[in-house]
Amino acid sequence: MSVFGFWSLLTALLILLCCLGSGGQAFEVYIWPEKLAVEIKGSTEVNCSTSCPQPDKGGLETFLNKSAIEDHHPQWQRFLISDVSQDTVLYCHFTCAGKQKFRNLSVSVYQRPTQVTLKLKPSRVGVGKNFTIECTVPEVKPLQSLTLTLFHGKDILQNQTFSGAVPASQEATTTFNSTAQREYGLLNFSCQAELDLRSLGGSLFQSISEPQTLEVYGPVQDNQMVIIITVVSVLLFLFVTSVLLCFVLGQHLHQRRTGTYGVLAAWRRLPRAFRAHPV
Ligand SMILES: *[C@@H]1O[C@H](CO)[C@@H](O)[C@H](O)[C@H]1NC(C)=O
Ligand SMILES: *[C@@H]1O[C@H](CO)[C@@H](O)[C@H](O)[C@H]1NC(C)=O
Ligand SMILES: *[C@@H]1O[C@H](CO)[C@@H](O)[C@H](O)[C@H]1NC(C)=O
Repeated sequence: MSVFGFWSLLTALLILLCCLGSGGQAFEVYIWPEKLAVEIKGSTEVNCSTSCPQPDKGGLETFLNKSAIEDHHPQWQRFLISDVSQDTVLYCHFTCAGKQKFRNLSVSVYQRPTQVTLKLKPSRVGVGKNFTIECTVPEVKPLQSLTLTLFHGKDILQNQTFSGAVPASQEATTTFNSTAQREYGLLNFSCQAELDLRSLGGSLFQSISEPQTLEVYGPVQDNQMVIIITVVSVLLFLFVTSVLLCFVLGQHLHQRRTGTYGVLAAWRRLPRAFRAHPV
């Protein structure tokens, strides 16, 4: 009985100690939103809150411009963060019963792909000759979230991501080398830039370039034309030559025939004496 009583007392004491011990510190700090993507030079709101019923103090740590919005609530406070120019981390903190807790929030700065330029080099090319498609986005951030897709009509020629890109660089370029085919001139080329910030707490931005037409000229067709013209010329030449030849030959034969008779007739017409002694 006494042993049982001792053990139950000890258990009860332990439970009491445990619950008391953590009771004063069992609080959480939250920051909302949990992920944040802000347009460059833009501003945003964050809400710092805690489960502690009576926090001693709380706040938001950042080197960015911040201002508290609305009245102060003991358990939460909203802040306006402005002129966000680079990726940063915000710290939300509260102190409850002498114990301090933090929660951080990573802020990603982005710049939309507004200007997408597509160039065909050269824009006029012969069938079977090489040409290059080049797409450039001068100012876009972060490159890790960017995909540049080259289209010919609706067909995807190339999809390029920039996952390993230098974080500091802001310009994105993709090139695609191809060999001109006759049908390439029928559909336009275009380039789409897609900035997918969904995993960073942002949205999806798309921008597409002006369509570009590739002018394809065909040496095959040109050759055919040359061949046709040559054959026609040769045939015409042969025709004209043979007609001329026939005419000349005919003329010549006729002349020879009449010429022979003429001479014979003249000879016959000559007086006998002259015929015997033609001088
Ligand atoms: C801030 O967050 C707390 C805790 O989630 C919530 O109760 C409060 O309504 C929020 N305030 C605003 C203005 O959203
Ligand atoms: C190309 O990238 C876009 C955007 O990320 C994606 O939706 C599409 O499925 C990709 N296509 C191919 C063929 O990889
Ligand atoms: C190609 O783009 C030009 C403008 O650059 C447009 O006039 C033409 O209709 C387009 N052709 C096709 C097949 O989409």
